[in-house]
Amino acid sequence: MNGLFITFEGTEGCGKSTQITLLAERLRKLGHPVHVTREPGGTPIGEEIRHTLKHSKNNSAMTWEAELLLMNASRAQLVREFIRPALARGEIILSDRFYDSTTAYQGYGRQLELPAVQGIIDLAVGDTRPDLTLLLTVSPEVSAARLRSRQATMPFVRDRFEESDRAFFDRVLQGYELIALAEPWRVRKVDGTSTVEAIHDAIWRLVEKELPPVADTV
Ligand code: TMP
Repeated sequence: MNGLFITFEGTEGCGKSTQITLLAERLRKLGHPVHVTREPGGTPIGEEIRHTLKHSKNNSAMTWEAELLLMNASRAQLVREFIRPALARGEIILSDRFYDSTTAYQGYGRQLELPAVQGIIDLAVGDTRPDLTLLLTVSPEVSAARLRSRQATMPFVRDRFEESDRAFFDRVLQGYELIALAEPWRVRKVDGTSTVEAIHDAIWRLVEKELPPVADTV
């Protein structure tokens, strides 16, 4: 594989989507072939699974184990249908979440057994691992406030994850901290409470070092 695989992680309201858009625009202006994707989702099958996980009116009874498997069913499809072929063509992929979300949300948040969670992730991704992971950090208070304002603008869109309680999100945050400590060479923390421009600059400094020469990526 000679492409570049960058994932974005963080809790709700950490500002990932804005930063992914800015980074993709900057890379495209420089002539890099860039694709943006998201999890759960990113393929037709994955988007159906996303609906089941997040918005379906039938999902209130979903068990944590079913949630774990559906997240990774979506991931297994995305990796094989989209990520591997794009990396093999030398392209850059920016993904809004990847397997660290499963470790943080289903492992630490839902408190499923970590070795079992890791086994499912390994099956879903094989040797397809991110080259760089940008973890946008915001405090639980900032995350909750941003979530409230998002819900106020979209009051009719129900989201199963956003209904979780504060203790769950605290465990997710703690999980992300432990993930960053365990793999500091891959997972780079970025302060998500700065201005949009300052966050973009910090991200750019980390990404720039990883970029292949433009001529080599096409
Ligand atoms: P988002 O697209 O708004 O970030 O929503 C995705 C939700 O799914 C978010 O609450 C995090 C959650 N999630 C998991 O719990 N496990 C996973 O593996 C992934 C990819 C997402």
